[in-house]
Amino acid sequence: MADGGLTIRSLEPEDYADWAVLRNCPYVQRNTLGLPCSSISDARRRLEEGKDSFRSLVAVVDGHVVAQVGLELMRNRRSHVGLIGIMVHDDYTRRGIASALLAAMLDIADNWLNLHRLELQVYTDNERAINLYKKFGFEIEGTLRDYAYGDGHYLDAYEMARLRPRP
Ligand SMILES: CC(C)(COP(=O)(O)OP(=O)(O)OC[C@H]1O[C@@H](n2cnc3c(N)ncnc32)[C@H](O)[C@@H]1OP(=O)(O)O)[C@@H](O)C(=O)NCCC(=O)NCCS
Repeated sequence: MADGGLTIRSLEPEDYADWAVLRNCPYVQRNTLGLPCSSISDARRRLEEGKDSFRSLVAVVDGHVVAQVGLELMRNRRSHVGLIGIMVHDDYTRRGIASALLAAMLDIADNWLNLHRLELQVYTDNERAINLYKKFGFEIEGTLRDYAYGDGHYLDAYEMARLRPRP
C-alpha cells in the first residue's frame, strides 16, 4: 500500500535498527512500556518473542520505518481477542500515519483474522492516543491503577476495547 510517500508493509528483520530509533523517541518512550536506550538486540528480542502470535505493520517514509502497529493474538478461549499497540516517531506525528496504520491493522483483524474484540491499555494522561483510539471505535472500559512505573512514579492506564462492528 502506498499513499503520498507513505508505504505500509509488514515489519522485516532489517527494520530493527529503525525500530530501536523509533522506540527511543522521548514521547514514544514515555507513553509505551519501553525503557530508555532501547537497542537493536532489544528490538530483536521483543519482536521475535512469540512471533507466531504477533502481527506487525510498519509505515515507511523516505526509506525509513517511522511508525509501527502491533497486534498480539490471544489463545484458546481468548482466541477471538487481539491486543493492539502503536507508535509514531516524534518527528512524524499529526500527519495521519497512525490513522493509516491502525486502519490497515483493523482491516486484517476484522476481515482476515475474524477477531471479535480488540483491546489495549493506554496511560490516562495520553490524550493523543485516547483520541486516536476513540476515533476508531475503541471505548474506555475501566481504569487500571498503578498499571506501570515510569519516570519515577506509577502511571494509571485505561483499558480500552472495540468489538467488531456488525456488517
Ligand atoms: C498517539 C500517536 C500514535 C498518534 O499518532 P499520529 O500519527 O500523530 O496520529 P494521526 O495524525 O493519525 O492522528 C489521528 C488522531 O489522533 C488524535 N491526535 C493525534 N495527535 C493529537 C494531538 N497532538 N492532540 C490531540 N489529539 C491528537 C486525533 O484524534 C487525530 O485525529 P484528527 O487528526 O482527526 O484530529 C502518536 O502521538 C504516538 O506514537 N505517541 C507515542 C506512543 C503512544 O502514545 N502510543 C500509544 C500507546 S497506547
